[in-house]
Amino acid sequence: MSAGAGSGLAGIVIADTRKSKVDGVNGRLYYGGYSIFDLAEHATFEETAYLLWNDKLPTQSELDDFKQQIAGELSVPSQILDVLKLLPKDSHPMGVLRTGVSMLGNFDTEAEDNSPEANKRKALRLLAKTTTLTAAWARIREGKDPIEPKPEYSIAENFIYTMRGEAPEATDVRAVDIYLILLADHGFNASTFTGRVVTSTDGDMYSAITAAIGALKGPKHGGANEAAMRLFMEIGDIDKVDAFFADEVKGNGRKIMGIGHRVYKAPDPRGTVLHEQAKVLAESTNNSKWYELAKKLEELARNDDYFIERKLYANVDYYSAIVLYTLQIPVDFFTPLFAMSRMAGWTANIIEQWADNRLIRPSANYIGDIDLEWVAIGDR
Ligand code: COA
Repeated sequence: MSAGAGSGLAGIVIADTRKSKVDGVNGRLYYGGYSIFDLAEHATFEETAYLLWNDKLPTQSELDDFKQQIAGELSVPSQILDVLKLLPKDSHPMGVLRTGVSMLGNFDTEAEDNSPEANKRKALRLLAKTTTLTAAWARIREGKDPIEPKPEYSIAENFIYTMRGEAPEATDVRAVDIYLILLADHGFNASTFTGRVVTSTDGDMYSAITAAIGALKGPKHGGANEAAMRLFMEIGDIDKVDAFFADEVKGNGRKIMGIGHRVYKAPDPRGTVLHEQAKVLAESTNNSKWYELAKKLEELARNDDYFIERKLYANVDYYSAIVLYTLQIPVDFFTPLFAMSRMAGWTANIIEQWADNRLIRPSANYIGDIDLEWVAIGDR
């Protein structure tokens, strides 16, 4: 079957999965059968990761044990932190994360063991250490020392604590936790697919995750949250939204970052939850400037025929940019936070891929010449 030139594999089903179901028509998302609306309301990120890895929710004792295992894996080898200190301070945090995660593989004695047991242990290590690595770079690039995570803290708590160096506040922790839950898995998105392709070569988990991070970095995928915030900052003021929409979007055909989705032709359910979170945070911090600006731009798009005809709605990245900015997370750390969350889904998909692993190797439709006559180099 030909996917057709330029199709981007849209709608092509390439495997069965129990991890997540993206219902693009109705705007719904499920992890292991549970709606993300319920998970965002009731679960923690740790519980969500457990669900994705085990295809069932944990009992209390299973969750306690799981959290203890994560706590035991939070530390990153000091040699890796030393290497990060050598990197140029203006390195993009996603590039640093890609490098750091790759190095984790060099320090893991089980890196080349692809057994299901070892893969589960590595998934847990990756989930725990990615948070530590991300926060470490935020400090190292400012000339500060990384902070050792606390074993009694959750992943969300540790992220805030090791980044800011202060005890995290409950509202901030819940906002980060909800963000981590909502982005944990999403069908065969580009980065998950990348991880599966590497795995399909019998490649090790660290190679697969390093490649997945590279795929997530692009602005058409994970990088859209950063790009959306930069767009809001470029507009700068709610009074300039109308002119921006008329001149740049309608006049110059500029894309609004954080709007549109390959699968959702209805409002992105994650965006709906994050919109509410952005509103709550704007109110609780008395800083509604960016929320109001983003809301106005979205409303203009939502009522515009061009966007209506193409079923373009705010996706997960649109309001998550406002949530993360209000939480004072540096803009270039938005995508690493996405990676921290998606680590749960990437590793779950890699483990699932291993269970029935076959080389993913599609074909191309060759459109060049054939049987050309060889011309000696001096005669060309
Ligand atoms: N603003 C304005 N127009 C947009 C748009 C946006 N954010 N997103 C898509 N469109 C338009 C395209 O120009 C195209 O118009 P056309 O039919 O006149 O050619 C049409 O909508 C379909 O978009 P296309 O880019 O072909 O769809 P896709 O499925 O290949 O791409 C995205 C989906 C996500 C890459 C795309 O919507 C996009 O670039 N969005 C902004 C980046 C983003 O938020 N990415 C995160 C996704 S979670």
